[in-house]
Amino acid sequence: MNIVVLTGAGISAESGIPVFRGADGLWEGHRVEDVATPEGFARDPQRVHEFYNRRRAKLLEVEPNAAHRALGRLALGWRRGQVTVVTQNIDDLHERGGSPEVIHMHGELLKARCTHCGVVTACREDLSRASICASCGGIDCLRPHVVWFGEIPFHLGRIERELDRADLFVAIGTSGRVYPAAGFVSAARAAGARTLEINLEPGGTSPDFMEHRSGAAGTLVPEWVEELLAHGGA
Ligand code: NAD
Ligand code: APR
Repeated sequence: MNIVVLTGAGISAESGIPVFRGADGLWEGHRVEDVATPEGFARDPQRVHEFYNRRRAKLLEVEPNAAHRALGRLALGWRRGQVTVVTQNIDDLHERGGSPEVIHMHGELLKARCTHCGVVTACREDLSRASICASCGGIDCLRPHVVWFGEIPFHLGRIERELDRADLFVAIGTSGRVYPAAGFVSAARAAGARTLEINLEPGGTSPDFMEHRSGAAGTLVPEWVEELLAHGGA
């Protein structure tokens, strides 16, 4: 059985990283257009660097929670290659929670990309206009390796193939407001998958979810993983 798990900001909330659309949302009172668009970066690169520098520093202080670790156990206990984690999150908490391979469709905060030569490098420090690209030596050409509004998410071809062969699709902690990720449940269902949503809020974010479990990911994801492993682990 092939399982595709889609995660959003909600799965990292209990690690101490705020979600985007909550009252104390991650945008910190900034306008999204100012800090999460190519136009905002062109207008004021230093402001955008500082926004992501704060998020990067925070990420280095937090730890994966029980939900990330449960997904790590699922990948270990299930048949190799049959669990795919697709995340909209730019943190590295899935990796640190033990998931061997994670598709980061919105990029990674701990990487920088050179806008001149395109090379992607590890980045754990602050970025600024004075940062120098280790590959081409250019100055003021590095940007966070994240997907901004108006840009095309990464790995969409591979994700489409995984959705096509999915038998079970599970969305965890995502508001279902941002496309294309918001459409994955419909694609998986059309391809014949069973669909499950785990979210703090009751009600469900799409009619294409066949089952909805409402509560904290840190509690519900370990329960769901133990259920699955008890019934069908490899
Ligand atoms: P979209 O379908 O993702 O956006 C639909 C509309 O909703 C847009 O007009 C957008 O401005 C608005 N919107 C979405 N989230 C919002 C928010 N938090 N506050 C206010 N308005 C919001 O299409 P798009 O704009 O082309 O986005 C392209 C991709 O970039 C998406 O996949 C998105 O998730 C991604 N993205 C990633 C990051 C990141 O930090 N990793 C940040 C922004 C966008
Ligand atoms: N357990 C489970 N779900 C939770 C928890 C929790 N502890 N805390 C919050 N949630 C749920 C909320 O109910 C909400 O539905 O997580 C969801 C978080 O939604 P958003 O903040 O909108 O995050 P996300 O869906 O990941 O946003 C998608 O939008 O801003 C862009 O690119 C950015 O990747 C992001 C994308």
